[in-house]
Amino acid sequence: MTPEPVGESVDRSSGTIALSPPDVTGLVPLETVLAKRRSIRHFTGAPVSATELSQLLWAAQGISGADKHGPVRTAPSSGRSVPLEVYTVTPDGLGHYRPTEHELEMLRTDDLRSALAEAAGGQPCIAEAALVIAMTAMTARTAEKYEGRAGRFVALEAGHAVQNVLLQTTALGLGAVPVGSFDDAKVSELLALRGGCDPLYLVAVGYPQR
Ligand SMILES: Cc1cc2nc3c(=O)[nH]c(=O)nc-3n(C[C@H](O)[C@H](O)[C@H](O)COP(=O)(O)O)c2cc1C
Repeated sequence: MTPEPVGESVDRSSGTIALSPPDVTGLVPLETVLAKRRSIRHFTGAPVSATELSQLLWAAQGISGADKHGPVRTAPSSGRSVPLEVYTVTPDGLGHYRPTEHELEMLRTDDLRSALAEAAGGQPCIAEAALVIAMTAMTARTAEKYEGRAGRFVALEAGHAVQNVLLQTTALGLGAVPVGSFDDAKVSELLALRGGCDPLYLVAVGYPQR
């Protein structure tokens, strides 16, 4: 399938991209995905398609159903406090994932990858990635219920969500590396994070260079 550039489906009037419905069946067994997962730091430069982007965002924080307490997401959340906010950085710009609507709100239309790589100590995997998924958190949401343990719970949740992304990239034949070494203030500024929202993790994603 020829990758479809993400920007082609941007609705410029509303600044949002309607994402395609997630694939909830898949063809690769979980055990195969677990056995194949590796950190990949070199990419071909080929873009990630709109369908792949949609699938990765759903894996990160998508709504996968509902029960008597409300919506359920693909990653667990302490007391359903849902502190995580997911951002995307691609050549098309900066996006913010809205799980309820399963859409991407475009916040900027310039390519921030090089600046983000610089904020991550010059790590080339960020500049070379077709897509960087930034996992950020509003810890105050969790602190309302779990005051003393909010920091711990939020970090654990980010790990759950990022592992979902890593496994989904593997299942799609993409490569990825989780990146935790970066300058928090610089990344916050680039992503234009609101006060109280902190960057926790970046995931560089692309087609693996073999
Ligand atoms: C919390 C955390 C932070 C990480 N930060 C970075 C990073 O900043 N840059 C990088 O290249 N890899 C980073 N990694 C990836 C590790 O280097 C990688 O997982 C490790 O070398 C093992 O390789 P594997 O993922 O292929 O099993 C990070 C991994 C974790 C769990």
